[in-house]
Amino acid sequence: MSPTSPKPAPRQLFVTTALPYANGNFHIGHIMEYIQADIWVRFQRMQGHTVHFVCADDAHGAPIMIAAEKAGKTPQQFVADIAAGRKPYLDGFHIAFDNWHSTDAPENHELAQAIYRDLKAAGLIATKTIEQFFDPDKNMFLPDRFIKGECPKCGAKDQYGDNCENCGAVYAPTELKNPYSALSGVTPVLRNSEHYFFRLSDARCVAYLEQWTQESGHLQTEVYNKIKEWLTPVESVDGSAVHGLADWDISRDAPYFGIEIPDAPGKYFYVWLDAPIGYLASLKNHFGKIGVDYDAFMADPATEQYHFIGKDIITFHTLFWPALLHFSGRKTPNAVFVHGFLTVNSEKMSKSRGTGLDPLKYLSLGMNPEWLRYYIAAKLNSRNEDVEFSPEDFMARVNADLVGKYINIASRSAGFISKRFAGLLGEVSADGDALLEHLRDALPLIAELYAEREYGKALRETMLLADRVNEYVDQNKPWELAKQAGMEARLHDVCTTCIQAFRLLTTCLKPVLPALAEQVEAFLKVAPLTFVNAALRMDAGHPIGDYKHLMQRVDTKQLDALFEAPALPEPEKILPGGEPIAPLITIDDFAKIDLRIALIVNCEAVEGSTKLLRLTLDVGEGRTRNVFSGIASAYKPSDLVGKLTVMVANLAPRKMKFGVSEGMVLAASHADEKAEPGIYVLTPSAGALPGMRVR
Ligand code: 2FM
Ligand code: ZN
Repeated sequence: MSPTSPKPAPRQLFVTTALPYANGNFHIGHIMEYIQADIWVRFQRMQGHTVHFVCADDAHGAPIMIAAEKAGKTPQQFVADIAAGRKPYLDGFHIAFDNWHSTDAPENHELAQAIYRDLKAAGLIATKTIEQFFDPDKNMFLPDRFIKGECPKCGAKDQYGDNCENCGAVYAPTELKNPYSALSGVTPVLRNSEHYFFRLSDARCVAYLEQWTQESGHLQTEVYNKIKEWLTPVESVDGSAVHGLADWDISRDAPYFGIEIPDAPGKYFYVWLDAPIGYLASLKNHFGKIGVDYDAFMADPATEQYHFIGKDIITFHTLFWPALLHFSGRKTPNAVFVHGFLTVNSEKMSKSRGTGLDPLKYLSLGMNPEWLRYYIAAKLNSRNEDVEFSPEDFMARVNADLVGKYINIASRSAGFISKRFAGLLGEVSADGDALLEHLRDALPLIAELYAEREYGKALRETMLLADRVNEYVDQNKPWELAKQAGMEARLHDVCTTCIQAFRLLTTCLKPVLPALAEQVEAFLKVAPLTFVNAALRMDAGHPIGDYKHLMQRVDTKQLDALFEAPALPEPEKILPGGEPIAPLITIDDFAKIDLRIALIVNCEAVEGSTKLLRLTLDVGEGRTRNVFSGIASAYKPSDLVGKLTVMVANLAPRKMKFGVSEGMVLAASHADEKAEPGIYVLTPSAGALPGMRVR
């Protein structure tokens, strides 16, 4: 922008990140999303715009209800305990949400019910009776994730009710073979239930979404390409499957932790209905605290609404959500920004387990949060490609670019200003001016790249500028000027140029490195840096503070510690069982052992052996197995018949004196059975079924 062009009016933005399920702590995937959004928000504020940046816990749904029950807590208490653990992560990585709320808060109950009523008034709610699995033991309809059985396509056992992890098939829970309830182990029964649907297949919805998803700016091209298959009905080659917008089941039956559907006793909103409404609820709650009129803000056509999300939840945000908002007469998003997944050492993120990079461990090791912000930003672009965290690359980018190129500029020049010029800046001569002009000319491009979420490019451009400044330093060698008689004025000029350049580069990095930028502002004694005031320069005679080193380099030891497995118990420590803990194995090692629940169908003494019992075991394979076990000193055959136990089911068969043993039963004993006799065969808790895997 040239100094004479009129200042554009400040914009008002409402920005969110996806609301995390309140059933676990953050993992690095959450932190990456928040950092991406936080950078954008900080950038917009540096442009002079007003931004409201909110998030909340996604509190509802059956999995959370069940997890709370297991933990012996009310769902409310369970969710509150998770919420209490959020702050160290957010503060630790300088993620500055204006508000953190919960989808179980009153604002969300009210908004969800109001939106539902508006949709109903628009004729877009329908009811339909559907058949669903019911757990007669737990007295509840089972969510897909709590029904297990054999995949109808490939026959793999223990698959969830919605899709097969073995062959990838997607199906309805009712298609599973030999289904059982993962909650009680019993066979579920089919029951009818009336469900509420949002009529997405209505011609109005289809027409609206066709238009909204294509309108420029709403979606990234690759996101549009992904979801357009839902919009255009297509028949597959064999004419079997027809895609297209289907009505969306938005109700769940009691017991359910959620929001009651108005005028529908015992019916609750499915968690994905009220989750995005939680964006609005958090904003409303925030406005209540700061005294802004929520209704007026949302009714203002100038208000812009943006959501940052991951590529796994595209349909909810680009089809259901805009339709919910539009047909309930509300503002729709200006854009949904979709990012890819984060892999760590090429390991895919698990939604529940995260990866090997534990954010709190990172902080507790004293690693600088801004290293991670910088690294993530350096790898991000505006598309939804996956981002890989590689420790070597992390170290190279932080040490070589951030410290080696940028910090270095201040550390090579600031000392002279304090020592030789009483901490006062001087004049800049023509060559310095040309350099600074070059930097200032690049600012609009860098700002544009931030606006487009092309952070990697913005940082590359910034580092190119830093390279130019370092070339200038190398050409002018202030450390040599300092030794030469009569070069005092030139030394002052060169160092002043470097400090002016450092100020400009700090502006470019501030969205990514907010804490560092604050330190630099204090050191340079300047007002908070923005893209609006970036063209200003510090006058000759402007005092600066003493330079203190601004950023350390990453040390390999820190990275080793970050990815090191948790500390072992002391290797020599003999536990009550008389043995030390065995050397560490990886989860992959463990996964090789297939442990199964086995029913002891028969058990008999082995003639000629005082140690062994012969067990006949059923692990649900449609045949039985013969297993010898050295437990005769502790059990009579009749003690065991009809009991459940745990066996190693993939142990290579072993030929023994008395026959072939096809597995091994698990039992506890002291290392020295003679000194401390006693063998204890493992039995599972009630409800486990033969063939279930033990992990
Ligand atoms: O996928 C998830 O983690 C969801 N809890 C995201 C919800 S985003 C919004 F709709 F609340
Ligand atoms: Zn399968």
